[in-house]
Amino acid sequence: MTQLPPINSLDLNRFKRIVFFTGAGISAESGIPTYRGKGGFWTHYNYEDYACQRAFDRDPEKVWDFHEERRRFVSECRPALGHRIIAEIQRHKPETRVITQNIDGMHQKAESVDVFELHGSLWRVRCPREDTREEIFDIPLKSRHCRCGAYLRPDIVWFEDPLDDAILKVSISAVLKCDLLITVGTSATVFPAAEIPLLALQRGVTSIEINLEPTEISRFYTYTMIGSAGKNLQSLLGQSSFPILHQD
Ligand code: APR
Repeated sequence: MTQLPPINSLDLNRFKRIVFFTGAGISAESGIPTYRGKGGFWTHYNYEDYACQRAFDRDPEKVWDFHEERRRFVSECRPALGHRIIAEIQRHKPETRVITQNIDGMHQKAESVDVFELHGSLWRVRCPREDTREEIFDIPLKSRHCRCGAYLRPDIVWFEDPLDDAILKVSISAVLKCDLLITVGTSATVFPAAEIPLLALQRGVTSIEINLEPTEISRFYTYTMIGSAGKNLQSLLGQSSFPILHQD
């Protein structure tokens, strides 16, 4: 049996193409609630009332009120240590890619680039009639309607929506090429997003999962670090002779 090096001796400098795959757990440390588990979003709200096309068709104002409130809440949150460490690693290793299921824009706020947002963004709106998209940060929106008169909708992949083909393609390409996968703060229960890290795991690349608790797929990772996103990312970075970020 191959002897694995202890996790604290893993040097990120050894890897060229790192992929981070992130979920709500990394943003929990910015104060943004996760979706499942204690206090999770979907334990308070029924997605069928707020987060699917059927709900929007039935009552767009109600769905927009819900999303405007999320935009307001998230706008007051700051990137957490984990977001900032990932951005720092990207600055040192520009081939690093970030694939996120989060819609909060926290990776970008931390100055990460090339963030592949599998589930869209709270900060983008889409006109379904013209098939146009626009990033808008106004809170509240100046108008919930496009110039053409149609209701804008949040450019989010709601329940029952397909993923965006182009984002899916670049994400798959990144995991097929990576030599290190680091998954942070996802329950890995929402498909097809959860299949993306599996593509790297099947290739046998070095992989690390960081989560407060083990997940259904923990056993497929080379290492699982149980605990908080920020703290564990910091200990990884600490082995890699990058400047170490401090929590404020
Ligand atoms: N550090 C590390 N992990 C954490 C932390 C933390 N501080 N806090 C929570 N976690 C872990 C939880 O243990 C859980 O496994 O983050 C995970 C969050 O899981 P979910 O709430 O299911 O979030 P996510 O996996 O991102 O959900 C996927 O579901 O409804 C949707 O579209 C939504 O993108 C979302 C998708």
